[in-house]
Amino acid sequence: MIIGQDIDKAAALLKAGELVAIPTETVYGLAGNALNEEAVSRIFKVKNRPFFDPLIIHIPHIDALGLYAEIPPANDLRLLSHFWPGPLTYLAPKKAIIPDLVTAGSPLVAIRVPKQPITLSLLQELDFPLAAPSANPFGYVSPTSARHVADQLGKDIPYILDGGEAEVGIESTIVGRINHRLVVFRLGGVSLEELEDVSGERIAEVRRSSSSPDAPGMLSLHYSPHCRLTLLDSQQSFSALELQPKVWLGFGALPDELPASTQILWLSKDGDVLEAARNVFKVLRQLDEQAIQHAAVRLLPEVGLGRAVNDRLIRAAAR
Ligand code: TXA
Ligand code: MG
Repeated sequence: MIIGQDIDKAAALLKAGELVAIPTETVYGLAGNALNEEAVSRIFKVKNRPFFDPLIIHIPHIDALGLYAEIPPANDLRLLSHFWPGPLTYLAPKKAIIPDLVTAGSPLVAIRVPKQPITLSLLQELDFPLAAPSANPFGYVSPTSARHVADQLGKDIPYILDGGEAEVGIESTIVGRINHRLVVFRLGGVSLEELEDVSGERIAEVRRSSSSPDAPGMLSLHYSPHCRLTLLDSQQSFSALELQPKVWLGFGALPDELPASTQILWLSKDGDVLEAARNVFKVLRQLDEQAIQHAAVRLLPEVGLGRAVNDRLIRAAAR
């Protein structure tokens, strides 16, 4: 069986230079030995990912960071020890041991310690970090279950380590410094409020959708289902839509004017942003699985993880 929970099998494959899909608390990753250029280049090939889009490396513990990158300043170390293991990725000057292929030629490497227990045990069995982008074809919706991975990459990889449904459901928040200022390069599983609280600093800049080559995960066309998605802001009414879709992605109270025949796919019935984050990629996939042509959703309030969920919805709606 290609899907299973055998950590030793996953470790043996990875040591042999093969790729394995791994569960993380954010999304499933397509993992390979980050120090093995052949394995890394296979990751790009299987995902059909352009080589200019750098990979995140996964390590078992904050103490391993110094093997692969310069030790961050004290305030950043405090931040990392607070959020690791967890959905935060940090950009640090890389050491020579990390192949340029991993960082797409950048002097910085993106590093995180994931929280998913199976994957943490796997990392502890290895003496190399795992390079792992989300385990989906480039540009498509990220996978939050082993089945999602199997559906698209099952034929290309020997093993998928099953850790159940991802607990956070959207990718890690990526932080780093530009001229000593704290910058968020991608919104994700750690909110801006939490980051400011723990760091005691203001976030100087939040990078959103862009075509900048230093953050290709930020390309506006990303996380896109085939289904057309219409976004409503907090003011817009459903009945004002020129073309009314038959499917509504629900978050809390439904719009009064929604026709009774509308199919509801729930991000969260209770209007809970954590639940919406956990569900958003699964729901976007369901649109395609059910061959739905057109759906609509109202953007969430821009607080906490609501910002990151909106970021994914905006990209999913980009055409
Ligand atoms: O939650 C996550 O971060 C998941 C799980 C598997 O860990 N991984 C993930 O990887 O989302 P991926 O490849 O889908 O997104 C990685 C993004 C890149 O597209 C890029 O925007 C940013 O991370 N990145 C990686 N290395 C970078 C670098 N050296 N400089 C700037 N951005 C970088
Ligand atoms: Mg991705």
